[in-house]
Amino acid sequence: MKVIDQLDIAGRQVFIRVDYNVPLKDGEVADDTRLRATLPTLRYAISQGAKLILASHLGRPKGQRVPELSLAPVARRLSSLIGQEVKFAPDCIGEEVEAMAAELKEGEVLLLENLRFHPGETKNDPEFARALARLAEVYVNDAFAVCHRAHASVVGIVEYVETCGAGFLLAREVKYLTSLLEAPQKPVALVIGGAKVSSKIGVLRNLLPRMDKLLIGGAMANTFLVADGFQVGTSFYEEEFVEEAKEILDAAEARGVKVYLPVDVVVAEDKDAREGQNVCIFEVPKEGAIFDIGEETRKLFSAALQGMGTIVWNGPLGLFENPAFARGTTEVARAAAATNAVTIGGGGDTLRALKNAGVKRAFTYLSTGGGAFLEFLEGKELPGIAALKQKAQGGESA
Ligand code: 3PG
Repeated sequence: MKVIDQLDIAGRQVFIRVDYNVPLKDGEVADDTRLRATLPTLRYAISQGAKLILASHLGRPKGQRVPELSLAPVARRLSSLIGQEVKFAPDCIGEEVEAMAAELKEGEVLLLENLRFHPGETKNDPEFARALARLAEVYVNDAFAVCHRAHASVVGIVEYVETCGAGFLLAREVKYLTSLLEAPQKPVALVIGGAKVSSKIGVLRNLLPRMDKLLIGGAMANTFLVADGFQVGTSFYEEEFVEEAKEILDAAEARGVKVYLPVDVVVAEDKDAREGQNVCIFEVPKEGAIFDIGEETRKLFSAALQGMGTIVWNGPLGLFENPAFARGTTEVARAAAATNAVTIGGGGDTLRALKNAGVKRAFTYLSTGGGAFLEFLEGKELPGIAALKQKAQGGESA
């Protein structure tokens, strides 16, 4: 895979696929982490005198123009982050947009409107990919978080642009996650949480041979607790994955992976409760639901992370959005951050949970990927990365 600094971009129209699929609140960007993550690539391209054409999706408008999912607020925020005007195109293909792109001067930036306003994007429609390619003398993918989608701006376009490569963000994600899979600093602990085992089975299976300790929290721990014969009251768990959870516990034991499940938990009658009750795992009341790991478990998990070479974190350990159930995630995340281990977090709600715990900066590496992070750790080849690799192998010269 070529990287942007190996491509000739000076004075050329460089189409950069970014992932600015960010939360909006009251018409403004509520979290600009994904914008900031692309700044090294943008600043480099600007410094080289490229003409930047940025393209992203936002939400899932299903091929319709949905005004609330316009990228206009993103253009405004990006403009203040890079300290120069970011022009905004009313669409992402068509003559008007092509004219706007052609008028760009060296170092100028144009953000296109939401790619998913066109059905061709998610269908990887060749016509749509070709229409995007008309804007691109060079194609750069800096959107790791959407690389698991075989969409037109991620995969299809690569066929129609001669010079293609990865941005610095994508290259960095691939470097960190590849070394995690291929040569992690040992011993390795995986801290995994979130609601569903079903969405993490692939990651658990692929990482099991690579890890030494597995710490399970969040609602997904309930499925494992049921598999281990515990009562979980009215807690959410996945009945249809209890057998799979048992298999994972057996496979872990066979491989000598030490598994940590909650020994006590915080229970309440509902998720909006002002406070919960700390109970031993044998004493979960019939009418109570588990919303966080308990005090002893926090200590147990924190102690288990001492001396690790690598700690991988995916998913919150409790319902951290409610402060009454945030202590598990907060305390264990702080313990992880205080070790000398390489700490890597990513996937779904993880970044929000780690930010809430105040450890975002203390982690060695935080992936911008949600689904892409999980699929990478499942060992799958992501279509967006495969397309760039194939292009590089095709002997295309920059
Ligand atoms: C993400 O936020 O994980 C990516 O932007 C992908 O979004 P999607 O799941 O809507 O394809």
